Amino acid sequence: MKAHIAVLPGDGIGPEVLEQAVRVLQIVGTLCGHEFTFSEHPIGGCSIDAHGIALTDETLAACRKSDAVLLGAVGGPQWDNPDAAVRPEQGLLALRKGLNVYANLRPVKPHPALFDASPLKPQLLDNVDIMVIRELTGGLYFGQPKFRKVVDGQRQAVDTLVYTETEVRRIVELAFHLAQQRRKKVTSVDKANVLESSRLWRQVASEVAAHYPDVTLDHMLVDTASMRLVTLPAQFDVLVTENMFGDILTDEASILAGSMGMLPSASLGDGGPGLYEPIHGSAPDIAGKGIANPIGSIASAAMLLRYSLKLEREAAVIDGAVDSAITRGCRTKDLGGSLSTRRMTDEIIESFQSYT
Ligand code: IPM
Ligand code: MG
Repeated sequence: MKAHIAVLPGDGIGPEVLEQAVRVLQIVGTLCGHEFTFSEHPIGGCSIDAHGIALTDETLAACRKSDAVLLGAVGGPQWDNPDAAVRPEQGLLALRKGLNVYANLRPVKPHPALFDASPLKPQLLDNVDIMVIRELTGGLYFGQPKFRKVVDGQRQAVDTLVYTETEVRRIVELAFHLAQQRRKKVTSVDKANVLESSRLWRQVASEVAAHYPDVTLDHMLVDTASMRLVTLPAQFDVLVTENMFGDILTDEASILAGSMGMLPSASLGDGGPGLYEPIHGSAPDIAGKGIANPIGSIASAAMLLRYSLKLEREAAVIDGAVDSAITRGCRTKDLGGSLSTRRMTDEIIESFQSYT
């Protein structure tokens, strides 16, 4: 098949890890007879430096025209001034909104050979296989009004947590749909003992559940969920939650996998190109050193093949190769090893042979 992929390297380690993900896609494409083309576009801090804004119309238009978007990371200390009118993160949020990718899938499946890299006891990590589905275009991140003002001589700031039933229903439906292909269990995470938006979320989740008798639904408060993720993570199958809760819980869940550098994500909407990015940030402290873990990006490329291009076999080739490299003991620095970003990728590519 032919497919065009928009590549948005962004800032910090973004370009280093994406270079490797693109290399992997090129090789898989050649091996399996596909014609993948790529075009690079700025986003985040580098876009602010070049164009004054974090996401240009050109970048968004190129993404919309593509079959899928692969993104590295945005942000860095040079753009961190809280008083700045433009921030790199605005680019990422505008892109998610602009592509209407409301469902962010973040799979967490620790590799047995990496149990030691996690601070958790290995027996807790046995059989952990979680699909976190984070709502990505609503909630506190986007709710209006959102402003600052001075009241009685005091600075005040407002963010709004708002959800419509349609926004809740579509993501919960996706959670049930994915659970049907997995262990048939959905945990809907909210704060219904305090928040009105969570009570609506819980109600809609229960309504959706009625249409999926083969899947069980549990409701769990977000504080409990954050505790269970590290005390009994194997109990989760599909976990679905609102934007900010999902942001926080997925950073927590990433320690199960041994390193933030391991985790990929896919952001999907109703048709249209999906957006694929590792969940780690731009890691300015190690940027430019060539030591970042490329697996989050490479596994994101696998998700791109699986969800946007429907190339399940090719996605499995990449996942299998990552698995095999880890099993053989290949490790970047974040996992206690010494392989460079490129060498780690070489090892993964070497493993393709045995899978094709
Ligand atoms: C993530 C990141 C982003 C988010 C930031 C960079 C805006 O933390 O993708 O999890 O909060 O969504
Ligand atoms: Mg985050």
